[in-house]
Amino acid sequence: MWPLLLLPFLLAAAANASAADAEPPPAAAMAPWPEQFHAVVVTNLTARGGRLEVIDLYYDWPRGRDLNLVRLQLPDGGEPPLRNVEWANGTAYVFDAASCRTFQFAVGLLPPDWKARGAAYLGRARVDGFDCHVWSNFLFALYYEDVATGRPVAWNFMGMERHVLSFEPGGVLEDASMWQAPAYCFDGSNDGDAADGVDGQGSRADLVNSMIRFAGAPAAAASFDQ
Ligand SMILES: *[C@@H]1O[C@H](CO)[C@@H](O)[C@H](O)[C@H]1NC(C)=O
Ligand SMILES: *[C@@H]1O[C@H](CO)[C@@H](O)[C@H](O)[C@H]1NC(C)=O
Repeated sequence: MWPLLLLPFLLAAAANASAADAEPPPAAAMAPWPEQFHAVVVTNLTARGGRLEVIDLYYDWPRGRDLNLVRLQLPDGGEPPLRNVEWANGTAYVFDAASCRTFQFAVGLLPPDWKARGAAYLGRARVDGFDCHVWSNFLFALYYEDVATGRPVAWNFMGMERHVLSFEPGGVLEDASMWQAPAYCFDGSNDGDAADGVDGQGSRADLVNSMIRFAGAPAAAASFDQ
C-alpha cells in the first residue's frame, strides 16, 4: 500500500538529492516565487480511488496564508469545492459546506525563497513538453520550473502529481469570506465527515490523509532553515 511508502520516499528523495552533489544551479533557477500568485493546477488521483481535481491555488506570503480551492470532476450532488486554508503559523483548515478539520503542521507556509533555504537542485528535465529546472525539498519530492519563463510546470507533493495550467504572478483573492474558516471549525464539531471522504469522494479523503501523514512527519523531514 503506497501511502505507507510516502514518507520514506520523500526522505529518500532528499537523501539522494544531497548525495548527488549536483552542480550548483544557474542564477536564474534560484529566482524566488512571486510573493503572491494564483495558479490553476490539475491532478489525477483516479489510480488511488480519487478523481480528477482542478485546484485554484492562491499563495499570499505578505498575508501569511495560502488557499486551495479543490474541485472534483463531476462531483456527486454538485458539492461546492473543498477549501484548504493554510496559515503561516502552521494551522490549516480543510472544510466544505458542512464540516471542517483542523491540522497543525510543524512548519508553516513555504517562503518565496525556499530554493535558497536548503532545497536540492537536481538539474534539468523535460516535463509536459517544457524544459525544466528540477528541485526537491521536504515538501516537493520533485518540483519543475520552466527554464524559459521561470513559471512552475509541475510538482510532486505528497505523492500527488500536480500540473500547472495557469500561473498568474500577483494574483490575489481579496474576498475575505473565502479565507475565513467557518464557525464549525472552532466550536468542537469539527470532525464531521466533510473532509474525511464520503462515498465517491476519494480525492477528499486522499488530500486529508496526506495532510495527516505530513503532520505526523518527523521534524527532520519537515525542517528548513527559516
Ligand atoms: C488518470 O489516471 C488514470 C490512471 O492512471 C488514467 O487511466 C487516465 O487516463 C488519467 N486521466 C487523465 C485525464 O490523465
Ligand atoms: C494560526 O493563525 C490562524 C489564522 O489567524 C488562527 O486561526 C489559528 O488559531 C492560529 N494557530 C495557532 C496555533 O495560533
